[in-house]
Amino acid sequence: CGIVGYIGENDSKEILLKGLERLEYRGYDSAGIAVRNGEGITVFKEKGRIADLRAIVSDDVVGTTGIGHTRWATHGKPNKVNAHPHQNTSDRFTIVHNGVIENYHHLQRDYLAGVEMESDTDTEVIVQLIGKFVDEGMTTKEAFSKTLTLLKGSYAIALLDAEEAQTIFVAKNKSPLLVGLGDGFNVVASDAMAMLQVTDQFVELMDKEIVIVRKESVEISTLEGEVIERAPFKAEIDMSDIEKGTYPHYMLKEIDEQPAVMRKIVQAYQNGDDKLTIQPEILEAMKEADRIHIIAAGTSYHAGLIGKEYIEKMAGIPVEVHVSSEFGYNMPLLSEKPLFIFISQSGETADSRQVLVKIKELGHPSLTITNVAGSTLSREADYTLLLYAGPEIAVASTKAYTAQIAVLSILGAVTAESKGIDIGFDLIQELGIVANAIQAQVDMKDEMEEIAREFLSTTRNCFFIGRVMDYFVGLEGALKLKEISYIQAEGFAGGELKHGTIALIEEGTPVIALATQEAVNLNIRGNVKEVAARGANPCIISMEGLQEDGDRLVLPKVHELLTPLVSVIPLQLISYYAALHRDCDVDKPRNLAKSVTVE
Ligand code: G6P
Ligand code: GLU
Repeated sequence: CGIVGYIGENDSKEILLKGLERLEYRGYDSAGIAVRNGEGITVFKEKGRIADLRAIVSDDVVGTTGIGHTRWATHGKPNKVNAHPHQNTSDRFTIVHNGVIENYHHLQRDYLAGVEMESDTDTEVIVQLIGKFVDEGMTTKEAFSKTLTLLKGSYAIALLDAEEAQTIFVAKNKSPLLVGLGDGFNVVASDAMAMLQVTDQFVELMDKEIVIVRKESVEISTLEGEVIERAPFKAEIDMSDIEKGTYPHYMLKEIDEQPAVMRKIVQAYQNGDDKLTIQPEILEAMKEADRIHIIAAGTSYHAGLIGKEYIEKMAGIPVEVHVSSEFGYNMPLLSEKPLFIFISQSGETADSRQVLVKIKELGHPSLTITNVAGSTLSREADYTLLLYAGPEIAVASTKAYTAQIAVLSILGAVTAESKGIDIGFDLIQELGIVANAIQAQVDMKDEMEEIAREFLSTTRNCFFIGRVMDYFVGLEGALKLKEISYIQAEGFAGGELKHGTIALIEEGTPVIALATQEAVNLNIRGNVKEVAARGANPCIISMEGLQEDGDRLVLPKVHELLTPLVSVIPLQLISYYAALHRDCDVDKPRNLAKSVTVE
């Protein structure tokens, strides 16, 4: 699910492997590189991690042009044969592809009858088509271009031609792709992070362009052949942000960064008079909307559930929250003036992007809340609000989630203010209190580890319950735990558990209950009693002022609307330690990818 390429004067292998390591968060079931030198193209590929690939790459092969891929399988098992790069039957063309070719079956039937496929991937069809068109007399560029016009779906592609040294052919549709510029070399990458060690100058590529990358030049043109000039931008990422430092895992580093992220967000959204501000166009769009639809996936969806509370409770605008993969194919009745808010850490999630494309066609306004400036969802929406969380590398999202919630609280509060509504508290001050409360939690790692050991070391399942805000945080807590520890975990509204799921409670089943909401404190405690009476092992996390004897953890008091920012921290840490105790790969859990650029 990530590609890289290098063309220059030095050996490409190490640059490609380093780049792939940085892209590994996007997918990591298999990987490969192809290196070109005077003797031709050599392909190395392997099932597993980049480390497994590294182990089979031979030092003897040296080549100043190369492409690489880390895969998150969509078509065909994650094995060595299906790993990229793929070659056509004559081995003249070598390709890496990220995305999904939806019509690969039709293309195979219509154009490639009689061509024996080596792999089960959709990708191989692309390279076989190019080979076929060249055999029929086209130049490589013509064949590439013709093939692209036939493809339906998403792709970021880098292509090598054994007979055209010193060129990488590149194109994209829907999937992100950048060209990086160097002195005497150029590179290609799905994400700037992958090539930051060699350049910080990047050119963005647009859908349906063909790019010819050479050592000394980058030539962008439309499929129709019209040449395009585009200035590079500087990637504003600090190398230290993407290094683990002394931390054993990115996830732990990112959990620890959360107090600083809270402060950074307040700073970024503050103007000279120490007031929170949002661009006037965004406030106008918020005020004009008769209904807001929040669209997101995974952890960002969970942040959206909390964002709904902020926008409704503070600014008085009705909000619906939708899982993006459902919304696009089953749209509810829309009001007259809807505004769409896309929440996405990466800004690249394909499920969310397809919704953006559809609602733009319908003519509706859109706002993206993302951590990545210049990402697809940011570029394509009318407005953007940034998260300022710094690169998030661990697959399980932590600091981006709390950053999303904080930015949504600011959006709610500033919209309220611009509508003349008094929210009744000083958000800057309250977010400061939150930052301190988060710090107190991350400083209690030994205690969190102990809770994980006590409740989760041998269990096969775990339930999270809560009401109001705590319900939404419980959903996120359950997602964190299952993502990285593979313990089956589910979040439930405290009152709903008894309507069926309580049947799963057995002697010793851990039930983590959040009790931070005053209005429902007695209710959630009643729900805890119900499960305890059936043998559950409850772990109550409450808040100062609401605590009772026997609560396992008491969080410092923060404003009731902002409790998710604090109550999620122990859940992140407990999940982290549960995964560690089970020897799981915390930063790269099985089957997942950080940024899912396929629908
Ligand atoms: C993937 C990740 C999740 C993430 C979701 C949405 O599934 O594994 O951690 O929450 O995508 O990602 P986004 O970048 O759109 O927030
Ligand atoms: N669809 C291709 C495959 O399954 C590419 C997947 C990816 O983006 O990694 O091989």
